[in-house]
This record gives sequence, structure tokens and C-alpha cells, in this order.
Amino acid sequence: MTVLVTGGAGYIGTHTLVELIAAKKSVLVLDNYCNSSVKSLLKVTEITGVKIPVIEGDINDKECLNNIFTQHDIESVIHFAGLKAVGESCEQPLKYYQNNVAGTLTLCEVMGKYNCKKIVFSSSATVYGDPTTVPITESFPLSTTNPYGASKLMVENILRDLYQSDNSWNIAILRYFNPVGAHQSGLIGEDPNDIPNNLMPFITQVAVGKREFLSVFGDDYDTKDGSGVRDYIHVVDLAKGHLKALGKLEKNIGCVEYNLGTGSGVSVLEMVSAFESVNGQKVPYKITDRRPGDIACCFAQTDFAENELNWKAEKSLSDMMADAWNWQKNNPNGYE
Ligand code: NAD
Ligand code: UD1
Repeated sequence: MTVLVTGGAGYIGTHTLVELIAAKKSVLVLDNYCNSSVKSLLKVTEITGVKIPVIEGDINDKECLNNIFTQHDIESVIHFAGLKAVGESCEQPLKYYQNNVAGTLTLCEVMGKYNCKKIVFSSSATVYGDPTTVPITESFPLSTTNPYGASKLMVENILRDLYQSDNSWNIAILRYFNPVGAHQSGLIGEDPNDIPNNLMPFITQVAVGKREFLSVFGDDYDTKDGSGVRDYIHVVDLAKGHLKALGKLEKNIGCVEYNLGTGSGVSVLEMVSAFESVNGQKVPYKITDRRPGDIACCFAQTDFAENELNWKAEKSLSDMMADAWNWQKNNPNGYE
């Protein structure tokens, strides 16, 4: 029995493969490498000693999916495949809806046809929009501000409807807060194309000398020091959450949403000073205007995942900083 990992060559996928293999799971990756390369999977092999079976293909390609389900005994799917750049989603919304929404429809249709009805889906805290209070529980109202976020919320709604129509599905919707860091081997990590949009890879690229300074997007928010506050979670903790969710699907849970975060809010300026003190590297920064669409503060209430999945983020902010830097300094140009 095999776990199909769509988008397995990407940032969170590779870290999850390491954990799946440690748990002796048989895996099959489906990835079209639109935001990754086979090199990341070779690094997973280096870490685990296991060759990763991979099919180069697209979740939108029904024939490819049919072949996978006829040729392999797929018992469940962890569905990472998706596009994730917020700015790009505003410029090319149809591309995002086609890939993230239509692709997931095709995947679920083929899964149903082969009676494979267990799926773990990568959602995001972005589905909470601009929350009125923190910490955020799973029952907070949902809204979005950009096509990327809308595509995640649409897929969530589709999965909830799918379960309503057929209770034999088991679906874990994982709402990630802000994944950062890297495997402690330094062999796999986040490899953004172009200029990073997210804070952590920007900090490490400044530290390694690829960028001159960090722009801190606003210091006039109603937060502890005026800069934006987020719930940063180590990608290895996040990966472990997927194994717990997969195990939970065996217990006929239906369709359930889980926040995966640490429950702690950390500001941009705290991130910079934590990076500097853990790694002894300066991160020059300038305060600039707020980034349009940004919210002041976002962090998770984590009790539900802790109680239901028996999972808790264990790694510290220092671990996140040390591992992110270890990956960046050993691989200044990512997997290239
Ligand atoms: P990533 O871009 O590193 O990985 C996604 C992988 O999916 C890539 O390897 C890409 O080539 C593949 N892919 C994309 N579209 C595909 C398609 N149509 N068919 C086959 N493969 C396809 O991203 P990630 O950071 O690992 O994120 C994984 C998932 O988690 C995504 O769905 C993302 O939206 C979601 N997510 C990520 C974050 C984050 O901050 N990284 C936060 C919340 C949610
Ligand atoms: C962003 C996305 C969100 C997505 C998440 C994870 C936007 C508006 N939101 O969220 O949809 O789910 O990434 O991929 O893009 N910051 C700086 N300077 C930088 C970069 C970021 O000050 O160069 C600040 C931001 O203002 C924010 C914090 O750092 O306060 C974190 O930013 P980021 O890593 O982009 O994550 P989110 O904004 O939470």
C-alpha cells in the first residue's frame, strides 16, 4: 500500500517524504517540476538511503492519474501540488484556479474512481483572511484577499462538499501557518525562484550576501514592536504533522480542519534579531511601507491539533534560524 505524494519534490513535500520513509511508508511522488527539480528528490535519497519513485506529470492530466491508480496500489494521497505565489496569483488568476482548483478536482475524481478516498490537503492560514482576534481557532470565519487564498478556500469547500455527498471519504485539511527552516542535514530546504516573497528566505539571502538589505514592511502595526507578527513553524515539525494526519484518516474522521502552527506570534524585528544572535550574522534592514494585503498579526490556537492528532510543534525559533542558515550557506544557489 502506497502513499501518493503530489508536489513531493517541493519544499514541504521533500521534508514530508523524509518522515514518511522514516515511518517505513511506501511512497510515490507525482510532480511536474514547475517549481522544483528532481535534484531535491536525489537529496531525499541521500538523507534516507531510499530511492524515491517519481512520476513526472501533472495533477491536471487525467490519463496520467489513471495510469498511476491502475499501476500502483495507492491507499491515500498527500496533496501538496499547487502554485503558491500571492503576487503572481493576482496577475494570473486563471493559472492559479486551473492548477490549484481544477487540478484538485481532477485528482479527487480519479481517486474516487479507484475507491481511494483518503486525502491530506495543504491549506493555509490565509483562509482566515484578516482575523479580528488572535489566537485563531479552526472555527474562525473564513475569507480571502487574493486568488491564491481563494483557490485554497475553494478547494476546502469542494472537499467539505465531497465528504457531505459521500461519507466514505476521509479528509484532513491542514492549515499551515508560516513554514520556515530546513532539514538539519542541510541537504534539503526552501529554494525560491527569483526574489523571495517570504520573510525567512529573504533574511537568509541577505545574510549570505545575495541581497543588500531586508525591507521590513511597516513598523506602525498595532503589534508589540510595530512590525508584523506571524506564527513561524519549523518545516520538520510541519512534515511530522502530515504523518499524524495520515494516521488519523484510518480512524474514519470524516472531513476535519487542523491548524498547524506553534501558537506563538513572532514579529519581523524579533525574527531578524533571533537570526543574528543564533547565527552571528548581521542582517541589515530598512523600514519601508507596509506591503499591500498584509495583516498585522496571525497566530494559531493549536489545542485541536494537539488533542486530536497528538502532535505538537517541538522545534524552537533558534532551531528554525540555525537550520535555515545551515541550508542557505551550504547551498547559496539552492539546488542549482
Ligand atoms: P513548492 O512550490 O515548493 O512545492 C509544490 C510542488 O508542487 C512543486 O514541486 C511543484 O513543482 C509541484 N506542482 C505544482 N503544480 C503542480 C501540478 N499541477 N502537477 C504536479 N505538480 C505540481 O511549495 P511548498 O512550499 O512545498 O507548498 C506545498 C503546498 O503547501 C502548496 O499547495 C502550498 O500552496 C501550500 N502552502 C505552502 C505554504 C508555504 O509557506 N510554503 C503555506 C501554506 C500552504
Ligand atoms: C504570505 C502570503 C500568504 C501565504 C504565506 C506563506 C502575502 C500577502 N501573504 O504570508 O498568503 O500563505 O506567505 O507562503 O503574501 N516581511 C517583511 N519583509 C519581507 C518579507 C516579509 O517585512 O521581505 C514581513 C511581512 O510583512 C509579514 C512577515 O514578514 O509581516 C511574514 O511575511 P511572509 O513570509 O511573506 O508571510 P505572510 O505575509 O504571513
